[in-house]
Amino acid sequence: MSYENILSKRNDGITTITINRPNKLNALNKATINELNQAFKVADKDKNTKVIIITGSGEKAFVAGADISEFAHFDVEDGGKLAAKGQELLFDYIENLSTPVIAAVNGFALGGGLELAMACHFRIASDNAKMGLPETSLGVIPGYGGTQRLPQLVGKGRAMEMVMTAGMIEAETAKAYGLVNHVTTQDELIPLCEKIAGKIMRNSTVAIKGAIKAINANYKDGVDGYKVEIKQFGKCFGTDDFTEGTTAFLEKRKAEFPGK
Ligand code: COA
Repeated sequence: MSYENILSKRNDGITTITINRPNKLNALNKATINELNQAFKVADKDKNTKVIIITGSGEKAFVAGADISEFAHFDVEDGGKLAAKGQELLFDYIENLSTPVIAAVNGFALGGGLELAMACHFRIASDNAKMGLPETSLGVIPGYGGTQRLPQLVGKGRAMEMVMTAGMIEAETAKAYGLVNHVTTQDELIPLCEKIAGKIMRNSTVAIKGAIKAINANYKDGVDGYKVEIKQFGKCFGTDDFTEGTTAFLEKRKAEFPGK
């Protein structure tokens, strides 16, 4: 599959998707969101992709936000549709994907860029990364899930401050807040993501899929996460992965999981 705004390549079970508009600091325009939806769909269906890494092209930005030039003239209806479509195609889509998604935050992650990173299952940042939700400085609020996922990750007070000030935080502060799991050098960012992806790939993809569903259920209104966990836990007992995992343990050997 060939794309205009992104790159996607698979290597050893990892598909790396790179947003490739460095001259626009990888800002998310409509075409890029559509291509990302397509690339995530392809990677999720691909039996040989066990983990997806998403990053930005160039040394400066992960994603500097939604493309402001595309929505500057929008009215109330257009604005609502923009948020709804983006959440459906990309942000909620990634969060609920069965394949683990790691955000490699390699520079500015602002507005829709930080929202994209937050929709991923977890985040790793390079030490030059700067993160923030500057929307209120543009006269809007975050519309790609930022008002929901930021407080989930950093707590309500910090989220309120970040949104109200529209300021940026450094990578180390983001780590202290729990927004990113690890901080490393720019050179080591992708290798560290790949190392962690390697640890994930040793485990059952079927079990990981169930775990993603159960963990996400904790953040869904009107859903009893404990019930989701019980259902997903029970389902595992009917899988080949469960038979292999428990048998391998008892036989004192490494499990060889059949895959997706
Ligand atoms: N939407 C559209 N274009 C963007 C963009 C965005 N969110 N962020 C950056 N760009 C474009 C700039 O317009 C510029 O394009 P040009 O060279 O054609 O003029 C190019 O990317 C480089 O950005 P520039 O502002 O010159 O880089 P900088 O190093 O001076 O500043 C930032 C970097 C990130 C501080 C600055 O680009 C910025 O504030 N961007 C917007 C961030 C934002 O508000 N995001 C939330 C959107 S909802």
